[in-house]
Amino acid sequence: MTQFKIGINAKMDMLKFKNLGQEREKEINKTKIENINTYQVNKLASVLHPAKIKVKVARIKKETEDVKSFYLQPINQEKMPPFLPGMYITLIIKKDGRTYKRAYSISGSDPNRSYYRITIKKVTNGMVSNYMFEECLENDSFTILGPFGQFTYQPLRDSKKMVFIAGGSGITPFMSYLQNDHFIKSIESLTLFYGAKSEFDLIFKKEIDEIAVNNPKIKVIYVLSEQKRDGYAYGFIDEEKLLSENLEGKSIFVSGPTAMYFSLNEIFKKLDVPNKFVRHDIFKEVPKNLQNETFTLTIKMLDKTITIPCHGNETLIKSMEVGRVKTLIHCTVGECGFCRSKLLSGEVITENSKVRTKDQEKKYIHPCVTYPLSDVTIEVPIK
Ligand code: FES
Repeated sequence: MTQFKIGINAKMDMLKFKNLGQEREKEINKTKIENINTYQVNKLASVLHPAKIKVKVARIKKETEDVKSFYLQPINQEKMPPFLPGMYITLIIKKDGRTYKRAYSISGSDPNRSYYRITIKKVTNGMVSNYMFEECLENDSFTILGPFGQFTYQPLRDSKKMVFIAGGSGITPFMSYLQNDHFIKSIESLTLFYGAKSEFDLIFKKEIDEIAVNNPKIKVIYVLSEQKRDGYAYGFIDEEKLLSENLEGKSIFVSGPTAMYFSLNEIFKKLDVPNKFVRHDIFKEVPKNLQNETFTLTIKMLDKTITIPCHGNETLIKSMEVGRVKTLIHCTVGECGFCRSKLLSGEVITENSKVRTKDQEKKYIHPCVTYPLSDVTIEVPIK
């Protein structure tokens, strides 16, 4: 067997190595620790993108019978933060001692960003949409979070030839694209398919027509499902209508009701449109097999345990809102990951695929898109 002798130098090196940790700790302890919030770059970030923004409703505009736009102006700052077309904000509503958060796409702004416009459709049993539609008045104030979102155009990833497909109030994120000169300049062509029940349900039609008439790159195809009229296609946005445009090599962005996502996905499969060319806006996929029962939701947060009722047809977050339990949420549609919580016991159902595989294995869920099938215990992030 070959034997190696360790010389004095090597022994010294090993000793140095052994003491490295302690030496490093001494040096670190000598360092003056600065609060990272005082770093110039972080100061700038907090000015440009404050964690929360106080806004007032400067104007309310009725767009259709069941849709209103709200122009939100900053109260404590001159401008709203920069945003990319397709992004959303989270609106925080306080009502009857409860706090509700809902995500709404930014449907417009002005070049100075003196306001954000959000556009809300009144939804049956929609707590926040009904409140905004029926009770919100000009000069009311709110807090908003954001802007956030991934439904954005990325020149390195997306084609310069674009197709937008909007259904109903799904037009809202596309309005911020249509108003953005930088985006329009950077693309070669854009076809917008916009489907609604009738002419009267087309939100922003006048605004869209004005933009399109001044820009030869933009083509708009309106599709009415319940009304036949000259100048409009009739039916749904289906294979035949999509094939009227050459889809090859184009990026397709989709925003609308869940049923539309499913039917379009089938069409894209049939037409061999690669997944990498299709992007969806955030949407809540309501799972089948919901239980029409009341269960118990036990929530653990640090050293506190809270128990509240939860209903089989409501998300865990909705039960927490009603039960006045505050937790971290932003998007409310399973996209941002802020509400990521550990399922400690019980059965749940979620069709949200955005929980990472590793998280799924470790039983992490997004309560904003998760429904109970039994009594459930979860551990939530600390607010
Ligand atoms: S709040 Fe965004 S994932 Fe739940």
